[in-house]
Amino acid sequence: MLAPPRVCRERLLWPLGVDIPTRSSRRQLLGINLYHDAGTPPVMSDDGRMLSGNAGVGLPAQPAATDAPPASHLHPRVTSFRTRRTALSGAQQATWARLWPEVGMNARDGDGPAPPLDTETWFGRSAPVVLEIGCGAGTSTLAMAQAEPDIDVVAVEVYRRGLAQLLSGIDREGVPNIRLVRGDGVDVLEYMFGPDSLAGVRVFFPDPWPKARHHKRRLLQPATMALIADRLRPGGVLHAATDHMGYAEHIATVGDAEPRLRRVSTEDTLPMSADRPVTKYERKALAGPVVTELLWEKS
Ligand SMILES: C[S@@+](CC[C@H](N)C(=O)[O-])C[C@H]1O[C@@H](n2cnc3c(N)ncnc32)[C@H](O)[C@@H]1O
Repeated sequence: MLAPPRVCRERLLWPLGVDIPTRSSRRQLLGINLYHDAGTPPVMSDDGRMLSGNAGVGLPAQPAATDAPPASHLHPRVTSFRTRRTALSGAQQATWARLWPEVGMNARDGDGPAPPLDTETWFGRSAPVVLEIGCGAGTSTLAMAQAEPDIDVVAVEVYRRGLAQLLSGIDREGVPNIRLVRGDGVDVLEYMFGPDSLAGVRVFFPDPWPKARHHKRRLLQPATMALIADRLRPGGVLHAATDHMGYAEHIATVGDAEPRLRRVSTEDTLPMSADRPVTKYERKALAGPVVTELLWEKS
């Protein structure tokens, strides 16, 4: 029996000793690369969901995978996101058509995952890069990028309307240091960034998948922690926030178990701000529960 965690806004401490899946089981837990050997590359449906190559471009989105998927190219892998219908307003469509080619790209297309990012060319300068996974509508993304003009932010989201809202904000406010990637953040970590390349990774209010049978869909698993630790440069920081107690404990456990990460707090000197504005999700969903902020530095 584990002792209860001590939770406060800044830190959540959880004793070690919990069974962590072995390295070999991690990829299956997350479904990483389940289809890379399949021959037929997956494609992204209009709502951001990855479909197997056999599903074909332009077919209606498949229903969200529920329990453990078979490791088959006929089925989408387990993902941490839900299928959502996307409808952009006329103004959002116009902004998308004008700006997306310049500041946006897909994590994957019919040819497979995107190649490694050349952030210096994309941003037109050399600056520390922070990756935000699951930016939603990007309200905090926009505010944090404005507050830190010397940092370049790559915001990843599968939800097209969220990206469209962020794009409109970038356009309206004239923010030069944000680029958008549509797709799965795990793909972005795995294929678009190399080892020791990121100054920071932010994951604010990842979907908690509260039911036990859905825990495998949680984004922050040992495999993702290992990938993040690899992509962070020494001194780089992972900043996660959640209002779900069970997920907070899980994130704390898997983060503390990753040997390249060392727990830090918002009071420490960090290469990026941990001063997080209230996110859109938080504003809508939070009715007084504790928000747990979890930070690690790569040693
Ligand atoms: C609960 S919302 C939080 C959004 C935002 N961070 C906020 O606080 O307002 C979680 C978001 O993460 C996105 N998401 C989940 N898994 C993802 C993944 N693997 N890659 C990219 N985005 C993901 C979902 O589409 C959803 O918009």
